[in-house]
Amino acid sequence: MSRPREQVIPASDDNARMNAKHRRLLQTLSVVALLAYTALLAYPTLSRGAVDDEASPSGKVQRIRSLHEDPTVTSESSSATATLRPPTTVLDDVFISVKTTKSYHNHRLPIILKTWFQLAKAQTWFFTDTDDPEFQLKTNGHMINTNCSSSHSRKALCCKMSVEFDTFMDTDKKWFCHFDDDNYVNVPRLVRFLGDYNPREDWYLGKPSIQAPLEIINKEKKPTQKVKFWFATGGAGFCLSRALALKMMPVASGGKFIGTGEKIRLPDDVTMGYIIEHLLKKPLTVVDQFHSHLEPMKFIRREILEDQISFSYARNKDEWNVVKIEGFDTKYDTNRFLSLHCFLFPHFNFCPR
Ligand SMILES: *[C@@H]1O[C@H](CO)[C@@H](O)[C@H](O)[C@H]1NC(C)=O
Repeated sequence: MSRPREQVIPASDDNARMNAKHRRLLQTLSVVALLAYTALLAYPTLSRGAVDDEASPSGKVQRIRSLHEDPTVTSESSSATATLRPPTTVLDDVFISVKTTKSYHNHRLPIILKTWFQLAKAQTWFFTDTDDPEFQLKTNGHMINTNCSSSHSRKALCCKMSVEFDTFMDTDKKWFCHFDDDNYVNVPRLVRFLGDYNPREDWYLGKPSIQAPLEIINKEKKPTQKVKFWFATGGAGFCLSRALALKMMPVASGGKFIGTGEKIRLPDDVTMGYIIEHLLKKPLTVVDQFHSHLEPMKFIRREILEDQISFSYARNKDEWNVVKIEGFDTKYDTNRFLSLHCFLFPHFNFCPR
């Protein structure tokens, strides 16, 4: 018998939060609809705006914001469906992919290797665009040269996602979780979180960075067709259950992900949303605990840091968007990942005691 999962699983904090979140999402949606409407009035060009289909870092693209004409569709598409109690999830059930590129190896990988990678050495793989013997050694052979271009073009990004997907499919892992090389991943929290879901059901778990579903025009269809869908921001990280990944194979495996991305001319994370929400009609489940650099990190309160799954950072001119946490000197720990790590896992040998 299937019952709503909120009833099956003991009312843990997570579930309470999920429920609260759905309510909040509904409230937010009405506010968002109002805001979007105001924006449309103020900036009529927005409603006609085209999606920047050229080489933009995913998430940074100025995407079309559209009014969701039927808010019920949205709320429905973000709610959890009935499920049985999921099987126990352990770290080894998770495939963690980190997208990186040649020029970021020296800048971004050392801190990951020093911190959260230590908690998931066997499960984490780095997808890059070159052979790098130094980091191949440091990751115990977990660098994968995708042979994709090192440019930040749409095609290069979709190419890497495509290899990440295929590599996951070649394993027997239950979950595929993608992150970027500017993410800090709270590994035990990620595993506990996935434990609330059944990998034999279709789950697309992540966090959108836009306030309304993306709307694109499908010019292939005559008459042209409007397509609306949500997508999880790649820069915050997202996870797919194996059941869902299996259903995606006809449009995403064996390099087909690139073709799909080319067809709609959108970045990798958007293409993921298009495949799952539009083609497969499986809804994105919004998870607040994923964080990309598009959000201000300083607003994540200290009391809830432990509960978050991913963090990020960014530098805009002289201003750093970083997690607000005491610890190491900012000169030494500019992106705050070392301090965050010591806050979460104080037993690490480089942490002050
Ligand atoms: C990249 O190219 C090399 C050399 O041709 C090949 O051995 C390797 O399998 C390729 N990697 C992927 C992910 O296809």
